[in-house]
Amino acid sequence: MLDLQLADRIVVVTGGASNIGRGIVHAFAEQQALVVLVDIDEHKAKQTAAEALERGARDCVFLPADLSEAENCSRTLRNVVDAFGHVDVLVNNFGWGDPGLLLRTTPDQWQQLWQMNLAATIACSQVALQSMKARHAGNIVAIASDAAQGVPNQSVYGALKAGVIAFTRSVAREFGRFGVRANAVSPGIVFPEAEAAGARSVWNRGATVLTEEQIQATIEQTALRRPTVARDIANAVLFLASDAAARQVTGQHFSVGGGWWMP
Ligand SMILES: NC(=O)c1ccc[n+]([C@@H]2O[C@H](COP(=O)([O-])OP(=O)(O)OC[C@H]3O[C@@H](n4cnc5c(N)ncnc54)[C@H](O)[C@@H]3O)[C@@H](O)[C@H]2O)c1
Repeated sequence: MLDLQLADRIVVVTGGASNIGRGIVHAFAEQQALVVLVDIDEHKAKQTAAEALERGARDCVFLPADLSEAENCSRTLRNVVDAFGHVDVLVNNFGWGDPGLLLRTTPDQWQQLWQMNLAATIACSQVALQSMKARHAGNIVAIASDAAQGVPNQSVYGALKAGVIAFTRSVAREFGRFGVRANAVSPGIVFPEAEAAGARSVWNRGATVLTEEQIQATIEQTALRRPTVARDIANAVLFLASDAAARQVTGQHFSVGGGWWMP
């Protein structure tokens, strides 16, 4: 059996309390990693951290932070480096979709989406990369979206997720010589399993994220004709984060959505 060699690794998962982030936290926990879960939702994060310990995490530390402010992202990552000495893996999972027809969106929404999708990814990565460069080791996995390929109602979010992919590729080029790998994963639609979405999850904000029509259409256009689950994304993240499995994989973007989009 392939040993992913993630035990004892210091793994930061942003937005790790709910849904996809929670699945990623669980997956690293099963690899006996030391997981740092950064989230705004203390209640849900503590639940997920307890689940991580039950699943075998070396430890699971919750750091509360509002990642919609770039300064908070930088401060939080600096705190991680100060507390643990370095970061082995940063999973830039935190993001936020706010669908809407372009002509109805406003500059305030664009600004919020920029902060919550691309700025948070840049700010967290910048601090982690300082430490990774110095150690000549490290790994970044960004969670993007198939919306980056062009989807109605998702123009601003999709543009920012395309930015996440481009940023990740640039990091791979700029930091590869320092032993750092960086890759991106785009999930298909992942509905939270029961109990998987906390109060601050996008799936609990009271408005429909996607219409029932859009959901059905997406599944019908998916080669495998089945929905994606958080574990599907988490497995791809584990593969990319593991130097044992993906030593020579960097600057790549994987869509994990049952074949909805194919490059
Ligand atoms: N679920 C999907 O169908 C899907 C599809 C494509 C891409 N994505 C991307 O995957 C990632 C995770 O999506 P998800 O569905 O699990 O999201 P989610 O909304 O269910 O979870 C996001 C997490 O972020 C936390 N959070 C919210 N606001 C915060 C803030 N200001 N500061 C810190 N933490 C905050 C929430 O508490 C939650 O734990 C996002 O980047 C999203 O854009 C999701």
